[in-house]
Amino acid sequence: MLIVRAPATSANLGSGFDVFGAALGRPADVVRLERAERTSIRVTGAGSQYIPEDPDENTVGAVAEALDAPAHIEIDKGVRPASGLGSSAASAAAAAVGLNELYGRGYSREELVSIAAEGEAVVSGTAHADNVAPSILGGFTVARADGVAQVDASIPLVACLPEIVVSTRDARAVVPDGMRMEQLVDVVGSAATLAIGMARDDPALVGTGMADGVVTPARAELIAGYDAVREAALESGATGVTISGAGPAVIAACREPDRREIAGAMVDAFEAEDVDARAYQTRIGEGTTIH
Ligand code: HSE
Repeated sequence: MLIVRAPATSANLGSGFDVFGAALGRPADVVRLERAERTSIRVTGAGSQYIPEDPDENTVGAVAEALDAPAHIEIDKGVRPASGLGSSAASAAAAAVGLNELYGRGYSREELVSIAAEGEAVVSGTAHADNVAPSILGGFTVARADGVAQVDASIPLVACLPEIVVSTRDARAVVPDGMRMEQLVDVVGSAATLAIGMARDDPALVGTGMADGVVTPARAELIAGYDAVREAALESGATGVTISGAGPAVIAACREPDRREIAGAMVDAFEAEDVDARAYQTRIGEGTTIH
């Protein structure tokens, strides 16, 4: 029997659409795995009523199948589904790392990223690694079709999750089909700045590098109060603010002493729009851990 913890993630970080990801210190999914003849799944915790327990419809069932590692799997969800915080990826990451250990399959963490990404395809339709990579490897990750680059970082963050639902399908439908050369130059500049900021653990550079004038403005329309929340966070000292993943969570990079005030300001700004919200005061942290 094994207990595995896999963190929430923020994948995009503004300028890194479908490429950048970061592991959050919290929240996290905690998954208990036990060898069995056939795979069975039980889900409790945040939003568990919306998550299928049928192994054919659950991301961890696909991971167990791919590793030929049947198990009884109990998932305690810390990461609510449809949050923009990599909920299904956290479960897939925990299952991949845990079942690899339980059955002694011997895959490397990088190989497990690909396996967990296939599991993600069960719920999202396409295998994408931008959330599973940071959930497994920790730190800041750059996921490309030909592999993943990773660097440890510990930038302080606030992830503010409003009680509204934005479907990933809707959030992807509003992404523009293309961009002008001038916009490409801006996005490349932001993305490169953010990557250097992560390598140096510099909150100012990371915040500056979150700027994105292409995908984020289109998605902001789907999140009631986004502009006010962003403004409130910046006024309280955030170095940068953007949508986490496909939303509706909003993520702010900051310096440690400002984190508490930023969290309060973001929650208050959502509440001023009649939207309940909670804020996680966290930082970029470690990947999946076995207990
Ligand atoms: N990078 C993806 C997006 C994450 O922003 O649509 C969705 O899970």
